[in-house]
Amino acid sequence: MFVQTLLLASILAANSADEHPAPSNQDASAALRGRSALLAHSYLKAEWRIDAYRNAWKLWGTTSAPDPVADPDGYARAFADYYGLHPAPYDNEGLPMGLRWSKKADGTRTGFQVDCMACHGGSIGGKSYVGLPNSTVDYELLLFDLFRADGRKPPLVPFTINTARGTVNAGMMSVVLLSVRNPDLSRRVFPLLLGANLPELDAPAWWTLKSKATMYQDGRTPAASVRSIMQFLLADKSRSEFEALEPTFADIHAYIRSIEPPAYPLAVDAPRAARGKEIFERSCARCHGTYGPDRSYPSKIVPIDVVGTDPARLMGISDRAVEHYNASWFAEHHRVSPARVGYQAPPLDGIWATAPYLHNGSIPTLHALLLSSERPARFTRPPSTGLEHYDARNVGWNYQVVDPPDPAAPRKPTREAHFVYDTRRHGLGNQGHTFGDKLTEEQRMELIEYLKTL
Ligand code: HEC
Ligand code: HEC
Repeated sequence: MFVQTLLLASILAANSADEHPAPSNQDASAALRGRSALLAHSYLKAEWRIDAYRNAWKLWGTTSAPDPVADPDGYARAFADYYGLHPAPYDNEGLPMGLRWSKKADGTRTGFQVDCMACHGGSIGGKSYVGLPNSTVDYELLLFDLFRADGRKPPLVPFTINTARGTVNAGMMSVVLLSVRNPDLSRRVFPLLLGANLPELDAPAWWTLKSKATMYQDGRTPAASVRSIMQFLLADKSRSEFEALEPTFADIHAYIRSIEPPAYPLAVDAPRAARGKEIFERSCARCHGTYGPDRSYPSKIVPIDVVGTDPARLMGISDRAVEHYNASWFAEHHRVSPARVGYQAPPLDGIWATAPYLHNGSIPTLHALLLSSERPARFTRPPSTGLEHYDARNVGWNYQVVDPPDPAAPRKPTREAHFVYDTRRHGLGNQGHTFGDKLTEEQRMELIEYLKTL
């Protein structure tokens, strides 16, 4: 069932607030349990048969690919490259990170499914990380090809999954799943009309969660909410199964909070970065906090008219959807705030690794983020996250500016079309956050040098 797939993708904005510091040795053992719960177990029934994975290459328009049976590692690499997945930095039993075998109790494989790391696992410079947002995945192409390779028609989806690589409409997936449940999580015959219209988004880096009081791009959900990260289980779980799995997801939550950002792998000009730190503290810290030994993070939700970035994510979550969530099992401990304010200024740890920038991934480099006149309206996404595509001066991905599409030209195949990010689309605007515009170019470069060190 497609719902099952949607589910994985799920995660919506959910609840409201409280603090939860636990003794750190308790946290550490929860994080260890959570790591294995997340990376070594599957929670959902198979969505596709094993052969769908092995046959997918026949849809790639190539005449040959590594043999999935004779050369499973070669095939996994080719598969990952094609759809923008990455090798797993843990034992994923031969599958690219983001796919997972489904098994019977005796361990027999029954098929496979997508898991959290399809969106929350990435690589940079040839190294993979759990929690690094996947900035290259073409989620729609991946799902639809797997249905086709399984001999089924891709399902009709009542919203856009993604128009570009690296962004994905996880919010609508959650809303749709929740619309077919009552507040007590019993199933409904007719979906509730919740009226949400969310756009595709860039996933936040998991290592920022530990610093946050509130989470999701609009900061309306308490970061301590465990149940909100269980929404994907709506695909096939009952209320009692949710209750039984809650302690496991509390451990997964602890694991996510234990993840650290990768360090910048290239040289940093230390005196320049030190000058950049002063600029940061004057111009940026009031929203983004301070780093290093005197660390502080205000978890500030900045009003939309102040930050000025694309409002579609903020406005697209309807009051009805929030009310339904808040009436449900998910919100018993942590409710979504009813106030629609703006976007949360995120912690900037590991920011060198998480281009493209802003909640919708609309800006390819830090330099363009800090100089709004330089932002491209249409730009290419990189073919891979190898350092050969990395721009260490501007910090982010190399790109080419693309002309507006010619309405008379034939439509490009999906895969090719999704390599272009078009800021004219719904929710993908690159406006706002003009806080770097008034800096001199020298100050901007010093600031960028400092940002590499976070
Ligand atoms: C289809 C892609 C996709 C999948 C699969 C997915 N997520 Fe997400 N996740 C996102 C996106 C996009 C956001 C940002 C949502 C927003 O703010 O509206 C997000 C947000 C989050 C956040 C909040 C981070 C923050 O700092 O605000 C957490 C935690 C999270 N996801 C955990 C998970 C877990 C755990 C799973 C698997 C059970 C999962 N996600 C599966 C795309 C995905
Ligand atoms: C008034 C508050 C405010 C100030 C001042 C501010 N920012 Fe931001 N910043 C935000 C908000 C809010 C967002 C998220 C906006 C969005 O995603 O739509 C953001 C996003 C960002 C991002 C993208 C984060 C990501 O994960 O994609 C970076 C990088 C950033 N800011 C750097 C800076 C720097 C450097 C400065 C100083 C020149 C600065 N900001 C000043 C509020 C602020």
